[in-house]
Amino acid sequence: MLKLWVNGEAVEVEVAPGEMLADVLRYRLGLTGTKIGCNEAECGTCTVLLDGEPVLSCSLPAAKAAGRKVTTIEGLAQGERLHPLQEAFVKQGAVQCGFCIPGQIMTAAALLERESDPDEEVIRQALKDTLCRCAGYPSIIRAVRAAARSLKTG
Ligand code: FES
Ligand code: FES
Repeated sequence: MLKLWVNGEAVEVEVAPGEMLADVLRYRLGLTGTKIGCNEAECGTCTVLLDGEPVLSCSLPAAKAAGRKVTTIEGLAQGERLHPLQEAFVKQGAVQCGFCIPGQIMTAAALLERESDPDEEVIRQALKDTLCRCAGYPSIIRAVRAAARSLKTG
């Protein structure tokens, strides 16, 4: 039995040997906000936070999350209130097909935790391994900038 924290709640879940974190989140815990794209650590779609750091959950054995804190896209909103990044992605029209967006937002959330006012280049670097097949990069970068402003002003 694997014990970990998911979005602030203590969770105990049965996992198969070698089962990856993305599969545990999606298929055992029903947290389908985390998407799986390439399933081979290439696209960033499956990014979640492990103790606040972005990790590729498709390639992280779930056992490595034992006793640690996992945050998924479902854990960002506060009740009914969207996280400023989620709001900004909607307002800036940064969501096209939407498939990459949970990974983009989780990666950006980690960035804004360590850097409150990143410029365009810093955002581009932070998101460089999180691919968007719809090529929505300009609006994604605008959304991260807008969220940074909104987090600063509260
Ligand atoms: S699905 Fe994990 S990196 Fe592509
Ligand atoms: S919005 Fe479609 S892959 Fe990024």
